[in-house]
Amino acid sequence: MKNNPIIPYILIMAFGIGLIFFMSLEGAGNKEEIAAGHGEEATEEGATASEGAGGEELVSSCIGCHGGDLTGGMGPKIAGLDAEHIVDVLANGIEGSPMTPGLKTGSEAEAIAEYISSLE
Ligand code: HEC
Repeated sequence: MKNNPIIPYILIMAFGIGLIFFMSLEGAGNKEEIAAGHGEEATEEGATASEGAGGEELVSSCIGCHGGDLTGGMGPKIAGLDAEHIVDVLANGIEGSPMTPGLKTGSEAEAIAEYISSLE
């Protein structure tokens, strides 16, 4: 039988698939390591991983309008406002403004409010 000219391509393909499979297994392993490492860091800081992002990360969605340090931009300065007021605004919104009701709710709203009210 003559050599089929397609055989080298099939070998290359098989090798490629094997490589992808191997790399994805490696990747999955790394991901677990990264996740484990992150969890440790979080507990060192006294927060549990299940709490999710803190107020400091969550305000990234407010910065566009309220300024990088939340001292005002297109929107007013909100740094240092009463936490209760911030939670109220996030839940109920301000009519006729970009602050729509329910912008943030629950523990996210509380984390944001606590962080912002701690600013100057
Ligand atoms: C699209 C722009 C925009 C975004 C995004 C935005 N805001 Fe605002 N915000 C405004 C504007 C404009 C006002 C002023 C509304 C008014 O008084 O008419 C305002 C008002 C407020 C007020 C009331 C201030 C006061 O003196 O009573 C709070 C509190 C507030 N925003 C918090 C936030 C938080 C927290 C976020 C992020 C989760 C956020 N905002 C995201 C535009 C924005």
